[in-house]
Amino acid sequence: MNVLLTGGLGFIGSHTAVSLMEQGHKVIIVDNLSNSDKKTLKKINKITGCNVTFYKKDVCDRKALRNIFKKNNVDVVIHFAGFKAVGESVQKPLMYYKNNLDSTFSLLDVMKEYGVKNLVFSSSATVYGKAEKLPITEDASIGAQNPYGRTKLFIEEILKDVYNADKSMNITILRYFNPVGAHESGLIGENPKGTPNNLMPYIMRVASGRLEILSVFGGDYNTVDGTGVRDYIHIMDLAEGHVSAIEHMDNSGLKIYNLGTGKGYSVLQMVDAYNKVCGGKVKYKIVERREGDVDACYASADKARDELGWSAKRSLLDMCESAYKFEQNNKQKFK
Ligand code: UFG
Repeated sequence: MNVLLTGGLGFIGSHTAVSLMEQGHKVIIVDNLSNSDKKTLKKINKITGCNVTFYKKDVCDRKALRNIFKKNNVDVVIHFAGFKAVGESVQKPLMYYKNNLDSTFSLLDVMKEYGVKNLVFSSSATVYGKAEKLPITEDASIGAQNPYGRTKLFIEEILKDVYNADKSMNITILRYFNPVGAHESGLIGENPKGTPNNLMPYIMRVASGRLEILSVFGGDYNTVDGTGVRDYIHIMDLAEGHVSAIEHMDNSGLKIYNLGTGKGYSVLQMVDAYNKVCGGKVKYKIVERREGDVDACYASADKARDELGWSAKRSLLDMCESAYKFEQNNKQKFK
């Protein structure tokens, strides 16, 4: 299939591009590089031995998007593009609503013009807000806690309306839990601009000496050791989940799947695991809870297993080893 990836040079997009090409799909990437690096393109090409078609364009730019659809015979779109920092979304809500919603409208318009019916949307477990029951199943109630989360939730609702208006569409919504790690080559991985908001990139930087000490947000949660529990999933497992999703799209209608492992690990368990691969260099201190955090959040991954034939295969050690390899490989450049 010819698969168009919006935001395809980002953390999840780039790994998905690799998995798709490894399965023989053709990948077309559109990315405005607002939170990604052009060098990732070369690395994707190096890993796969293929040449990805790339457009440095903003998905909000309908004219540019039309041109891309005109030139490429797109079978399916995976829509990753969007702003994703929770804290920033609280400071700049309009910027988040405008960018994340506008890009989706533009994409849906142009897909309609070109008769493209297949869409995978990159959503997030953030739409579950404070879950009432664990593990979280796809039919749990939804309600986001911040503007970023609400953009995901709004887009999900918009897609349901779009599907109701045109039942010939196939729309798959994937709700990601916490993707971490890197491609096995260590060539591509997660290297956010500025100080990381997320746990794993923070741990990686403390271990490599780029940051001094990890602040563990809260030690009094109702969990195994008092620190927050999340469902960390290897980025390559997540990437492969997208391949399964597009390969199960024929007349599938509108479907929603969690992509997680079904297992939760605490912050201190993550620190311990990373210490095993880096030689115990992760210094930490327990500080106040971070506003908006929940005790524990992990998926029921049964629906994706039963309907897509997909489940996460890689272990916590694989996640840490690949992340460490990526950090070591790029240490000089990161300095
Ligand atoms: N944490 C720390 N110190 C840090 C960063 C995080 O202790 O410096 C803790 C958090 O308190 C939490 C856990 O590590 O208990 C994971 O935090 P992350 O920020 O890595 O991830 P979240 O679960 O808060 O959120 C992530 C993404 C969201 C997404 C959500 C889906 O950032 O975009 O997963 O569940 F919506």
